[in-house]
Amino acid sequence: MEVVIVPDAKAGGELIAEAMAALVRRKPDALLGVATGSTPLPIYEALAAKVAAGAVDASRARICQLDEYVGLPVGHPESYRSVVLREVVEPLGLSEASFMGPDGSAEDVQAACEAYDKALAEAGGVDLQLLGIGTDGHIGFNEPCSSLASRTRIKTLTEQTRVDNARFFDGDIEQVPHHVITQGIGTILEARHLVLLATGEGKADAVAATVEGPVASVVPASALQLHPHATVVVDEAAASKLKLADYFRHTYANKPSWQGL
Ligand code: F6R
Repeated sequence: MEVVIVPDAKAGGELIAEAMAALVRRKPDALLGVATGSTPLPIYEALAAKVAAGAVDASRARICQLDEYVGLPVGHPESYRSVVLREVVEPLGLSEASFMGPDGSAEDVQAACEAYDKALAEAGGVDLQLLGIGTDGHIGFNEPCSSLASRTRIKTLTEQTRVDNARFFDGDIEQVPHHVITQGIGTILEARHLVLLATGEGKADAVAATVEGPVASVVPASALQLHPHATVVVDEAAASKLKLADYFRHTYANKPSWQGL
């Protein structure tokens, strides 16, 4: 795995946005998997700025969602569909038709999960999947001890994740759904390139366990070690517990091998 240490979140956003722009220049109809939460926002801002400046034509790009809350009313501003439409699809000037995600309001949730995995495969697979990481090491909403071979399915959020996400629901944990649909770890590993961004000291333990710990379902993000093309971009604070930080700085900081790939 490539570990790129950047000075701050803005630099990480810019670096990843440029990698996404390079992909779209090479493959205009690339399927870009996006994550929600706070961490990827600098990526979306930087990518939208490139589109607005004419540095990349993203008009044929396709967007797909990583996960979704179960049970929020359709159109709820914090449903991940709403968030991705607001933060990614609209700023890039794309239409809703270019966007796909799991149906968190389906009556038959299991069927909706299977339909989503099938739709991703039929769309040709995800070219680049952005990931954040939970303080407990989750990716998507694959909480600790999720099967490393899991497919898209319903999961129960841990109390920690609900506490972490309460800030999106007026700080009221009672409003945070208990259940989500998430791409499974096996599903995520099928994307051609995985790019995880982690910023802030609160992610330092999870990053160290992901990068330098053993592959173990108790740290779901450690599954990235199994992927042939996984890039972890971290700011100095999130890198602060990496024993190999200097090696990563020396190897990847100036010219990450994944740029322009
Ligand atoms: C969101 C997602 C989650 C978040 C993670 C970190 O789609 O899949 O794994 O990436 O919870 O969230 P933030 O970035 O808000 O710290």
